[in-house]
Amino acid sequence: MTDTQTNGSKTRPVPADFADNGFFGRDVLSVKQFDRKKLDHICQVADEMRSMVERFGSADLLQGKVLANLFYEPSTRTSSSFAAAMMRLGGKVISINEVRYSSVSKGESLPDTVRTLESYADVVVLRHPEVGAAAKAAHYARKPLINAGDGVGEHPTQALLDFYTIRRELGQVDGLNVAMVGDLKYGRTVHSLTRLLLNYDTSFTFVSPDILRMPAEIIEEVKAAGHSFRETDDVHSVIGEVDVLYVTRVQKERFEDLADYEAVKGCYVITPELMQKAKQKMIIMHPLPRVGEISYAVDDDPRAAYFRQVENGMYIRMALLAAVLGKA
Ligand code: NCD
Repeated sequence: MTDTQTNGSKTRPVPADFADNGFFGRDVLSVKQFDRKKLDHICQVADEMRSMVERFGSADLLQGKVLANLFYEPSTRTSSSFAAAMMRLGGKVISINEVRYSSVSKGESLPDTVRTLESYADVVVLRHPEVGAAAKAAHYARKPLINAGDGVGEHPTQALLDFYTIRRELGQVDGLNVAMVGDLKYGRTVHSLTRLLLNYDTSFTFVSPDILRMPAEIIEEVKAAGHSFRETDDVHSVIGEVDVLYVTRVQKERFEDLADYEAVKGCYVITPELMQKAKQKMIIMHPLPRVGEISYAVDDDPRAAYFRQVENGMYIRMALLAAVLGKA
């Protein structure tokens, strides 16, 4: 450590081998923080992380660093891929997944919990059911805080890995027609991915039942950025035209009235028969977990990219952690 300087939102000691990559010491709260240059950089570093893992399994880039994984909502992929990312870079992880067993169950506030964890860690990853929770927590935290999903708001690191997957699978992002299918109202992954793709020349097809349409705020952003889009409730009529079919789960836990959920659950199921209508060069994605939206029989289709997408998540999170901690 050589010096201390204000870097973005946080005051942090600057490592001796520091090269400013635009991420060091900063929070990652929204995809709005990313432009094409930053996206290129993160994807390139993710590629390097992939080769490193393939050749050596792990590295010591973040040796001595500690990540606090604080999850107030269930998670399989996001929490374990952040943990795996940190461990493969030689760092260590504190995991609070069961808030029931932590002081949160005694009524401790989010700011107090975050300020406690950052006393032990170098970076905090937070998932929380309220929109804006990550921004609120980041306001109190001195260490960088990464939003791992704030209610129906955003899920920026998922959007980064989704973007990385599209780019890797299809070679480019400009010119693509991206369809998002399912719960576009409550699905934070599609909110973040739509916003991220506004950096590219993509057109959108939003497929949902009427009560689960993409929020007006995001539609306005799409219009303001001059992208073409259409909304429909019929996946059959559009599947032949799309390059990316991004399928989502209907988010049962977000519904105020369970009768509404019952009315729309199972509204779309992607089957091998439906896939016969799709282009040969296209991909099916899903942030997972799936609860019936893509039949298991589709998994053998080479266009089914969702498990490759899962793996990409670890490389993207390795790249992000290294960047935020000043090592990429
Ligand atoms: C998503 C999430 O939590 O928003 N999953 C994920 O992070 N991979 C999608 C979902 O829960 O349906």
